Amino acid sequence: MIPFLELKSAYQEQKSEIDAAIAAVLESGWFILGPQVEAFEAEFAASLGVKYCVGVGNGLDALHLGLLALGVGPGDEVIVPSNTYIATWLAVTYTGATPVPVEPVAATYNLDPARIEAAITPRTKVILPVHLYGQAADIDPIMEIARRHNLRVLDDAAQAQGARYKEQYVGSLCDITAWSFYPGKNLGAYGDAGAITTNDAELADRVRVLRNYGSRVKYINEVVGFNSRLDEMQAAILRVKLKKLEEWNARRRTIANLYLENLQGLDLVLPEVPDNTEPTWHLFVVRHRQRDDLQKYLTQNGVGTLIHYPIPPHMQEAYKSLGIIEGSLPISENIHREVLSLPMYPQLTDSQVREVTTTLRRYRPTKR
Ligand SMILES: Cc1ncc(COP(=O)(O)O)c(C=O)c1O
Repeated sequence: MIPFLELKSAYQEQKSEIDAAIAAVLESGWFILGPQVEAFEAEFAASLGVKYCVGVGNGLDALHLGLLALGVGPGDEVIVPSNTYIATWLAVTYTGATPVPVEPVAATYNLDPARIEAAITPRTKVILPVHLYGQAADIDPIMEIARRHNLRVLDDAAQAQGARYKEQYVGSLCDITAWSFYPGKNLGAYGDAGAITTNDAELADRVRVLRNYGSRVKYINEVVGFNSRLDEMQAAILRVKLKKLEEWNARRRTIANLYLENLQGLDLVLPEVPDNTEPTWHLFVVRHRQRDDLQKYLTQNGVGTLIHYPIPPHMQEAYKSLGIIEGSLPISENIHREVLSLPMYPQLTDSQVREVTTTLRRYRPTKR
């Protein structure tokens, strides 16, 4: 069986360093907002060429606190992709604002800049692109539209640690960037973790206060804040794993290229990479008209796959109240019907990748 994802072998690669980092935190007796968090924030920011990083509890909180720092609140609208993980929309809802979905470019799965202006209203405050599957959204035209309409841009980089757009790392391209370090991400903690990065000192400061009960000085509360802090243990683990990020992303790139070479000529839509982007290959996503049949065949033949994502946010029970009916976001709905993610993680061997591609080449759709 080739699993879709397996996290134990990455731990084995760094076991002694990870174990030592955890032991050092335990022995320090300091667990919240301490030297490990500060060091990780500095190291992650430096690795991206951005001025500020503020660690928070998870990726959803990074989005939520980032939106609050931009001043988003009840009555506002935030432009979001119609195809994304639901966290992107939930963060908007938490602020009291309304998510306004815009369709993607089908070939890249990312927000289509050409469709954004039609969705802007006097209530629009922020555009929230997502670098889905680890490939940078087309940020330049999005920033240009935002500047022209006096809007701010927060990007969701949960899947894009190490992704580049026009030679620049994701994390410094927009007003503020939200990160998730959920264990399965390219840079993953051993529990929940997240962060924001920004070049704007004021935005960084607002998130720093919001994550810690609205407090800068102990027991002095400036705003109604939250408890959402990256903890010392996760920060220490992330510092060790950050050292491997480039190498592991390079290995993902090699795996992606093997897939791309060996899957040519099949009745599959393969990922398309625009010239100006370097993806992290967080996920390797193909499309097929009989996706469910293909997934069943792969499972029966020992290949683990997942669907990112089976139901678009507007068709979830949770968002019924928005009244966006089925059929109104056809590009996204079609993507959700056809996408399938193949096994992808740095420790996958070349022979495992070949086994996946050979199995795919033998697939014959069940007659309908
Ligand atoms: C695109 C996207 N946004 C946001 C999140 C939320 O991150 P977290 O699970 O750390 O809250 C995730 C991952 O889970 C994600 O994939």
